[in-house]
Amino acid sequence: MCGIIGFIGARPAQPVLIDGLQRMEYRGYDSAGVAIQNGRGLRVRKRRGRVRELADHLSANPIDGHMGIAHTRWATHGPPTSGNAHPHLDCTGEIAVVHNGIIENADTLRTLLRDRGHTFLTPTDTEVLAHLIEDAEGETLEEQVRAALRLVEGAYGIAVMSGEFRDRIVVARQGSPVLLGLGEGETFVASDPAAVVEHTRSVIYLEDGDIAVLSPEGYRVLDREGNDPGRPTDSIHWDVEAIELGGYAHFMQKEIFEQPESLCNTLRGRLVFDEGDAHLGGLRLTSGEIGHLRRVLILGCGTSWHSGMVGRHFIEALAQLPVEVEYASEFRYHAPLSLKDCLVVAISQSGETADTLAAMKAARERGGRVVGIVNAVGSTIAREAHGGIYLHAGPEVGVASTKAFTSQLAALLMLGLHLGRRRGLSVEDGREVVAALSRIPALLKRTLRLDDEMARLALLFAEADNALYLGRGVSFPVALEGALKLKEVSYAHAEGYPAAELKHGPIALIDDDMPVVVVAPSDQIFSKVVSNVQEVRARGGRILVVTTEGNRDLATVADHEVLVPETHELLTPLLTVIPLQLLAYHIAVLRGCDVDRPRNLAKSVTVE
Ligand code: G6P
Repeated sequence: MCGIIGFIGARPAQPVLIDGLQRMEYRGYDSAGVAIQNGRGLRVRKRRGRVRELADHLSANPIDGHMGIAHTRWATHGPPTSGNAHPHLDCTGEIAVVHNGIIENADTLRTLLRDRGHTFLTPTDTEVLAHLIEDAEGETLEEQVRAALRLVEGAYGIAVMSGEFRDRIVVARQGSPVLLGLGEGETFVASDPAAVVEHTRSVIYLEDGDIAVLSPEGYRVLDREGNDPGRPTDSIHWDVEAIELGGYAHFMQKEIFEQPESLCNTLRGRLVFDEGDAHLGGLRLTSGEIGHLRRVLILGCGTSWHSGMVGRHFIEALAQLPVEVEYASEFRYHAPLSLKDCLVVAISQSGETADTLAAMKAARERGGRVVGIVNAVGSTIAREAHGGIYLHAGPEVGVASTKAFTSQLAALLMLGLHLGRRRGLSVEDGREVVAALSRIPALLKRTLRLDDEMARLALLFAEADNALYLGRGVSFPVALEGALKLKEVSYAHAEGYPAAELKHGPIALIDDDMPVVVVAPSDQIFSKVVSNVQEVRARGGRILVVTTEGNRDLATVADHEVLVPETHELLTPLLTVIPLQLLAYHIAVLRGCDVDRPRNLAKSVTVE
């Protein structure tokens, strides 16, 4: 979703800002803009569409200056036009604001400001902020910003410049991420480390209520009371290459192929072979606390919800705890029942998904002990959780989540093991899972050899505008995830269904043209799935089965068979999802879709 970059230093600001915006393009946006202080005042340029268009315009009409702020916008209040793009200005054109998040009382504030004589040019909530700062009392820009924000309800990460105070950028955070990047004689502000990593790895993550002032001399951070809260300096632990294509055609493709490595990184140092256990110190749960748990609630959105659906099977099987999996956005509005003795697991690749964040807050208020399974280090969900498991999968740039999914499964499996071993799971059973999990990276490598085959199959399925994905048990969420991948990147309509539910409705959809992808590895439930596949066969669907090497039981029923290596029953989703990711990728390419920037989607959804 929206991205903020700001810069103050000795070099020209324009290229730094444009590079920063390009580094955040993956997040999803529909317009972009910059404001640069050029010595005589603020110069603002905004464009609907790609950052490239803004960059081309600026190359032809450059703005000099060594400090500026810039933004990519994903429309919420008002359509994606150049006018609605950020920065937004006050009545005088002297105050420029870029903003991530949503101002919930924007309408009330707009009415109030109109009554005081302010004129608005757009319906955006961000423009309200600019006028509010103009209207606020204060000797300095930071005082004005602080006074204005006192009236604001909602979430924001903002960066503000003013023609009056030409030596500073003021930034503030409440519920939407903001970090400072500390370079040699230059300082950055950004909503995403990707925007600054090529310049510096030293960052400070602001906390809610913080205001920071960037100037040519450096920076100051102030908390709500105006004191220095002593925020620590963190390091970005990945290289700029991690967010570059490195020879691949798309980030989605690169990230699919990175999975043997990203999974190794998730497992590194955590598997305890002798004990059949997983070392998860970051969870911050004692054996006693684990022993007292009565249930587990998993919260997430999109792909993270799907991994939670698989994780439920892991935790139930290994830790003998009942598990519920909820869409974070729905959980928020449940009756406030007590979550005492409940372990709440919030799963999020980005660590910034607004619904997941709000759900975990609601869960904590109800007495749940909340842990996070998060990829983005230092993200809000990671910091708000009591403890958690970092994926260490490296930055995920493709909007369609791939490597985060497999790493989430590995993390959930280790969570199941860790809880299980403290709740009666035998060493032998634990060892079996640990051994199988440690072999997964090598098996993933083998599974990725299916790439050519999936590209060939994609040719057969690329024209279809509908598809069904079926699975049972641990394979049902894999079917959901396969269908989601196809929808996201190829815009084909796809539904995931529990295979046995087919006969209760969706079977009506099946005709000779309908592709039906069945996830059916060799497991206890396999023979039941065979009957479900026969039901499809009898009605003429085009069947593609993903099953285990050596299993020929569906060879005569399916039109196409894709074989993945054998593994422990519980672990099959880590392998069966791979051909589905590849299929969606190749179909999207054949359909001419913008694989890494699918229409209307955002990588990190920071609004409700
Ligand atoms: C967005 C993304 C999805 C992602 C979901 C949850 O919708 O496009 O790919 O699965 O958000 O994101 P999270 O960062 O919380 O895992």
